[in-house]
Amino acid sequence: MTALSPLLKQATPVTIDHALGSEVFDVDGNRHLDFTAGIGVVSTGHCHPKVVAAAQEQVGKLIHGQYTTVMHQPLLRLVDKLQDVLPSHLDSLFFANSGSEALEASLRLSRQATGRPNVIVFHGGFHGRTVATATMTTSGTRFSAGFSPLMGGVHVAPFPTAYRYGWSEEEATAFALKELDYILATLTSPQETAAFIVEPVLGEGGYIPGNTAFFQGLRERADKHGILLVMDEVQTGFGRTGKMFGHEHFDVRPDIITLAKGIASGFPISGIAASQELMSKAWPGSQGGTYGGNAVACAAAVATLEVIEEEGLVANSAERGTQLLEGARAAAVDGIGDVRGLGLLVGNEFTAADGTPDTARAQAAQQAAAKKGLLLLTCGAHMNVVRMIPPLVVTAEQVDEALEIWGKVLAEV
Ligand SMILES: Cc1ncc(COP(=O)(O)O)c(C=O)c1O
Repeated sequence: MTALSPLLKQATPVTIDHALGSEVFDVDGNRHLDFTAGIGVVSTGHCHPKVVAAAQEQVGKLIHGQYTTVMHQPLLRLVDKLQDVLPSHLDSLFFANSGSEALEASLRLSRQATGRPNVIVFHGGFHGRTVATATMTTSGTRFSAGFSPLMGGVHVAPFPTAYRYGWSEEEATAFALKELDYILATLTSPQETAAFIVEPVLGEGGYIPGNTAFFQGLRERADKHGILLVMDEVQTGFGRTGKMFGHEHFDVRPDIITLAKGIASGFPISGIAASQELMSKAWPGSQGGTYGGNAVACAAAVATLEVIEEEGLVANSAERGTQLLEGARAAAVDGIGDVRGLGLLVGNEFTAADGTPDTARAQAAQQAAAKKGLLLLTCGAHMNVVRMIPPLVVTAEQVDEALEIWGKVLAEV
């Protein structure tokens, strides 16, 4: 008898029958509040009618056009639509299927455009599961253990994770930038460094926002040395943080941003955006793929962007995000050391009395919440951060309901 591989780990015991908005209904008819959103993917909520209609219409016209063979309208429409939301200097787009592929594309372009071999990533970052992106991932050894040798040319610098260091944000930032300079002096010279690759908010690494001084410090060094600044917006893009893109919180200009997850409400499509000038430093055919820019995914992405705009979902993310963060802070009990986030990315870090990560309690809380109808995930190096990432359409009432369940969970575990 065939079965799903035990390689897959599932965070909840739920098998879904159908879903709508921020709610999913399991095969036994139970309703669950989905504060995982498919790991930050279903931005417009599950099965938004407009996204469903766009995808259904496209399925009847063209499913797969293969963009290195022919061009199709949904892809051109998506390029056009993205112009409305992307920073104006990022006016050239390449599409792939997954976040990992977008990161691979950004790495390939960075190396080809600069002719330099190395990149610097930031400790706690998550960039994917392919061998190259697993090498660039430092949010937990579970993502890279057991299949070495990994890719060469990756160096790791500190991220200003103030809570973990036990420092102020200023101290953590000063330390991170000082170490970056030391790395550029001792491990990879600027002339051999193609890019800094960084998330605006560490995602898998524990929902830790960066800060303006840190990102501007990266920008200054990038400008000084001709290094590219790649911001990985796979999780933080498309309104998730309360702005269209996470980096907009920090007044910093990226050279490349990576796009995936929230772009198409659940259809697999990803991409990178850079300037025409930068893209033209590589060559036609240097990137591609069989399924990139799938027509149905593109149609769903266009509809997603329209819904985000028409329903004011970026503003809703900011407002509901504040409600969720404040509510989670108010609900925090002894043993939750830090509650932090940006928009609808909220992390609750469980810390034992001796200051060590309390993985067992975080896991128990996540499981207890699932039993009470609230789907959550964990993250962080020690899986001791319970993260809350509802769809951007979540309502004030649903946030209140989730917080009420969360309060009961915390009283129990
Ligand atoms: C910031 C970031 N980059 C890259 C990825 C990899 O995306 P995918 O799982 O689609 O390959 C993820 C996935 O969680 C992510 O959060």
